Amino acid sequence: MIVIRKERTTDHNAVREITDFRLIEELRKSRSFIPELSLVADCDNKVIGYLLFVEVDIGGYKELLLSHVAVHPDFQKKGIARLLINGAHDKARELGYHFAVANGEAVFFKKFGYVPAMTYDIEQPVFEKENGVYMAKYLNFTELPIFGTPVYPREYNMDRVEEIHAASDLKKDENVIKSVKVPSKEVKNMSSATPHNEAELGMIAATVIMPGDPLRAKYIAENFLSGAVQFNAVRNMFGYTGLYNGRRVSVMGSGMGMPSMGIYSYELYNNYDVETIIRIGSAGGLLDDINLRDVVIAQAACTDSNYVYQYDLPGNYAPIGDFDLISQGVEVAKKENKKVRVGNVASTDIFYNNYPDVNKKWASMGVLCIEMETAALYMNAAAAGKKALSILTISDHLFKEGELSSSERQTGFNDMIKIALELV
Ligand code: HPA
Repeated sequence: MIVIRKERTTDHNAVREITDFRLIEELRKSRSFIPELSLVADCDNKVIGYLLFVEVDIGGYKELLLSHVAVHPDFQKKGIARLLINGAHDKARELGYHFAVANGEAVFFKKFGYVPAMTYDIEQPVFEKENGVYMAKYLNFTELPIFGTPVYPREYNMDRVEEIHAASDLKKDENVIKSVKVPSKEVKNMSSATPHNEAELGMIAATVIMPGDPLRAKYIAENFLSGAVQFNAVRNMFGYTGLYNGRRVSVMGSGMGMPSMGIYSYELYNNYDVETIIRIGSAGGLLDDINLRDVVIAQAACTDSNYVYQYDLPGNYAPIGDFDLISQGVEVAKKENKKVRVGNVASTDIFYNNYPDVNKKWASMGVLCIEMETAALYMNAAAAGKKALSILTISDHLFKEGELSSSERQTGFNDMIKIALELV
């Protein structure tokens, strides 16, 4: 039986036979050494594999570098490296680390959920350049600004490049991993990508701002965020993560209509660690005292959609926005001298209704405006126990003349973006 366990002093000789021991012995004495992450693969009391993660400094935070992985030549191609790496990741998560970096075969590391480190703005140290692709894996959720070039323990130095890492050891073990049964949980954890979103876990911030149009997501990333990195391009539903006033935030298109918003927001809440989604969109005015360019914060969303039937509730459900976000949104708007209306909106499945006057019925109940996404967003948030808010600009009025010019649309859009970003 193969067991992955902490290395003991009595294992040192066996480890020495498997891998470069000089650097390991020095690292063992250094402050970067974490005994819980110096692991051996033990097969019936024989050490057949070794793994070492050491601490590196990334942007002032203690994170991890995969320093060594090695498997005894008689036991290669049996998935031992995989067991060691997965075991170490579990332990590293338990210890609270946020990122692990590794240098080597991108194809190999991708199987463990690593992505090019640049995705997280983690740069490859200069002396590592020749060794392969510099990869990083997200381990635990963080909003900390962890990025920059990792600073390695002193024991690593330029003359030592050849000894560094197990890139070559890993290559030998890369192909056959199937002969050891890997729990399905681990396999599932390897990638968080969905059919609609190629982002890996950790690439998306806790708060996502969602305009309907993905090109608007790009516009926000380019004009309002610093250091934005694109995380999705599947179906051109662009998504980016960057910093706004030092706070990490993502922007991603939702597409038009509740089926589209339903898919993307569901995945953000349930497949990624997203806590808050703020929709920013346009809406058609319904009431007499609603005018073009008004900003509406959707307190709740009525709907003609069937979306709610999936929850099999014993009555009509009232999809509502998050109270704290609503009140903060009002505060931000006040500070910026922007008038906002807060109230009920209607989310419809039908833009071109055969009976346009049907919308007068919503108006007769005081519904401010009509759009096509908020109800699904609010329901997904409720079902996932997360937060949502919809901020809308009136782009047209169903019962009054007039239309926004494209520059007015842009100004209205910028007003919403500013309110949304201040809520992050
Ligand atoms: N109907 C639905 N959604 C909209 C409208 C509309 O008239 N105007 C802007 N978004």
